[in-house]
Formats: sequence, structure tokens, C-alpha cells
Amino acid sequence: MRCNSCHGEAGGLSTRTFAALMEGGNLGHVVIAGDVEQSLLIHFIDGRRGAAHRMPLGGRALSAGEIELFRRWITEGARLDHAELPRYKQTRRIEVPARISCRPKTSGYLTLRLLDPADGRILLERVATVKSTREDGDAGEPGEIISWDVRPEPGWPAKIDVELIAEYMNQDPRNMELQVQPL
Ligand code: HEC
Repeated sequence: MRCNSCHGEAGGLSTRTFAALMEGGNLGHVVIAGDVEQSLLIHFIDGRRGAAHRMPLGGRALSAGEIELFRRWITEGARLDHAELPRYKQTRRIEVPARISCRPKTSGYLTLRLLDPADGRILLERVATVKSTREDGDAGEPGEIISWDVRPEPGWPAKIDVELIAEYMNQDPRNMELQVQPL
């Protein structure tokens, strides 16, 4: 939630999935299971690499409690301990151009995917972080409308499938309805 806006697809470290995080970044592995002191992720969040490299870069530091949780997770073996990630997916077949929107009520992580209904090919993917105390790179705060304007690109079929996936929502996101308006 605090890292994905920068550590997404741009190359280097990706924090978007457990597998990507464990793969590491330009400096190699950043999480060494069982070894907090060797885990660079900790060095980057607790500020010991210097203020200029303290993550989240340019943002509010993680709280002492959050840092402690990372330390404990690594000490306990850095396992994927939330395999049953709460995940809610809505799908709809639409025509573009369209404005796709939703109004999440709680903090969470959204993935919008447009797919070719014929073969499931991903035409477009966008991610958005929603959290209170909005920071650079976030899409908005809970209660705000999050929207994407989508215009057809060459090679797209007339009708496309939209998938909106909500993850890490700390309340049931089912009341967050996917809205589609023609543009
Ligand atoms: C505003 C953008 C931004 C945010 C948000 C951010 N980072 Fe970074 N991060 C960077 C940049 C840029 C670098 C590389 C330059 C540096 O080391 O300062 C980096 C480097 C890193 C590295 C070393 C990566 C490597 O390639 O080996 C780690 C580990 C890291 N960040 C962890 C985090 C964590 C954990 C969070 C969330 C708590 C976070 N970052 C949030 C921009 C960001």
C-alpha cells in the first residue's frame, strides 16, 4: 500500500506480489528469511541508509509498529502467510471509449484490466492505491471516486471485458460498484 506506487512495473524492485518482492531488485534479494539484519528492505524503511533513501521515498515514514511488523515477519521466516488474500473481482463487457469508475469505501489496492473477450489477452492494465492520508502516487482516499478514461487503441475489438479487482480492502468491498459511462 505504501510502496506499490513506485515499486510497480517500472523495473527494479516490485512490491506488488509476494513473489516479486522475494525476487528482489537492483541490489539483489531485499528480504532474507530469518535474518532481519541482512534484509535490505529493513535498512530502507528504518532510515539507516540515510534520509535520502528512507522508504517510502519522500513520504511519511512507516510507524515504529509497522517496521516492527516487517521485522517480526522476516524473523518468523518471511512466508506467504496470507495466501487467502481477500480479493474481490467484478467483470463487465463494455464498449469503449468509456469512463470506468468506482467508489471504494475503505483503503485498498485496485487493479483494472481490459481484456479481449476472444482470447483473454490483456489489452491494458492499471493499478491504483486508495488510502486515507493520500500520498504522491495514490489514486485517492476512501469515499472518493476513482476513475479511468479508456479510449480504444488500434487492434482492439468493439466490445471488451473489464475486470476490476480490489485487494487488501479491510472491509468487504462488495458494496463498491463498478460503474461504466460512455465518453
Ligand atoms: C516515491 C517513490 C517510492 C516509494 C513510495 C517507495 N520507494 Fe523504494 N525506492 C524508490 C527509488 C527511487 C529507489 C532507488 C533509489 C534509492 O535507493 O533511493 C528505491 C529503492 C528501494 C529499495 C532498494 C531496491 C533495489 O532495487 O534493490 C528497497 C528495498 C525499497 N526501495 C523499498 C521500499 C519499500 C519497502 C517501500 C514502501 C514502504 C518503498 N520502497 C516505497 C522509490 C520509492
